[in-house]
Amino acid sequence: MKTGITGATGQLGRLVVEKLKQRVNPDSLVALVRAPEKAADLGIEARAFDYTLPETLAPALAGIDHLLLISGNEVGQREAQHRNVIEAAQKAGVKWIVYTSLLRADSSSLSLAPEHAATERLLEKTGIPYTILRNGWYTENYTGSLAGAVQAGALAGSAGDGKISSAAREDYAEAAAMVLSGEGHAGKVYELAGDEAYTLKELAGEVSKQVGKEIPYNNLPEAEYAQLLVSLGVPEGFAQAIAQWDTGASKNDLFDDSKVLSMLIGRPTTPLGVSVKSALK
Ligand SMILES: NC(=O)c1ccc[n+]([C@@H]2O[C@H](COP(=O)([O-])OP(=O)(O)OC[C@H]3O[C@@H](n4cnc5c(N)ncnc54)[C@H](OP(=O)(O)O)[C@@H]3O)[C@@H](O)[C@H]2O)c1
Repeated sequence: MKTGITGATGQLGRLVVEKLKQRVNPDSLVALVRAPEKAADLGIEARAFDYTLPETLAPALAGIDHLLLISGNEVGQREAQHRNVIEAAQKAGVKWIVYTSLLRADSSSLSLAPEHAATERLLEKTGIPYTILRNGWYTENYTGSLAGAVQAGALAGSAGDGKISSAAREDYAEAAAMVLSGEGHAGKVYELAGDEAYTLKELAGEVSKQVGKEIPYNNLPEAEYAQLLVSLGVPEGFAQAIAQWDTGASKNDLFDDSKVLSMLIGRPTTPLGVSVKSALK
């Protein structure tokens, strides 16, 4: 029984491989990656696998029974890329696909949602058993910019009073590993999010507490926040996307209190304070 992991050289994929190696025989794992040389340190078989090269994908999936399709990071290209992978999986006789989607992909106002929803519909059509991991926000999406906020003396955003139930990337990776190495998950759609929900004001409060200095939260209209990000060197398209996602957060699109993620991993999700601490050290 072989399990293939796409995106295994990415941040989430590396953690999934690490967690899977603790649960199954590493010889049963195959990293399906754009650059196999980057996967050498994973300690598992690696095969070349580029979502944009459809004719190469089915041969690369030979002998793969279970497939974790980690969504690509080229926003706007992903529906076509994921279609290539799913069609190849059909040709290669893959028996189960686990896909990393987005929290409430079918109703979320985040600009990221339509590509995930389209991929989910493709999976439904294939007839291959599948499991959808609708991953909520990574806490790292916010903690990555905290050092800059401390330096600037304020945290900016557009999320208003929206509650964000983020979890650490590692929590989602562990859930993927539990599902892939477990049983009874076929046909399930899991909405995954952190146990704790916080507003950006509360995040700024946690940062203030940890650095011992007041870091206020400045809530800005979406366009103004995007402009601020551009002035800080973020490319315009990405800045607009980040600001739009915050607007989604303001509508509670990143909120979820189901605690399915902590149930799957059998422990509480990583507390916000821990993620903030590790980002600021
Ligand atoms: N829920 C959230 O908050 C959140 C945040 C960010 C991203 N995401 C989604 O979750 C995914 C995993 O997150 P991450 O943090 O691991 O992102 P990441 O570090 O950017 O990893 C993305 C992975 O996708 C692979 N990839 C991209 N295009 C590909 C292609 N054409 N063919 C084959 N592989 C391709 C990359 O390959 P290389 O290693 O060769 O670059 C990389 O391994 C992202 O791709 C994105 O869809 C979710």
